[in-house]
Amino acid sequence: MKLTNVAVTTIFVIAVTISLAAQDGADLYKKKCSGCHGASGEGKPAMKAPALKGTQLDASQIAEHTAKGNPQSKAPHNKPFTGIDEQQAKAIAEFVKTLK
Ligand code: HEC
Repeated sequence: MKLTNVAVTTIFVIAVTISLAAQDGADLYKKKCSGCHGASGEGKPAMKAPALKGTQLDASQIAEHTAKGNPQSKAPHNKPFTGIDEQQAKAIAEFVKTLK
């Protein structure tokens, strides 16, 4: 009986953590990324920003492109994105993967 409670509590805590992170990601995406990549990740030709919805990149690659940048990329991704730490980049990446 006790063990079941522990298991249920653990699952609950994990679920809450995941949904909080998801919200965080959506929020951060809206603030930091949608200006160039569009509210639903459709991309903005005017900003020369590609669509992110349906991207071939997986979440860890998106997080890395954001948190670390790539010297070969165009601005703003030629260096780490200002004001986004690795945790936040991961949350944003998870959100980006939900865009369809
Ligand atoms: C100032 C405009 C701008 C902002 C803001 C911006 N991006 Fe970008 N993004 C670009 C441009 C331009 C490219 C194309 C160059 C490149 O590949 O880095 C790009 C490319 C990308 C790529 C690579 C896409 C691919 O298929 O190769 C990812 C992933 C990405 N951005 C994620 C993000 C995330 C996440 C944020 C928010 C933290 C963000 N970007 C904010 C302009 C922007």
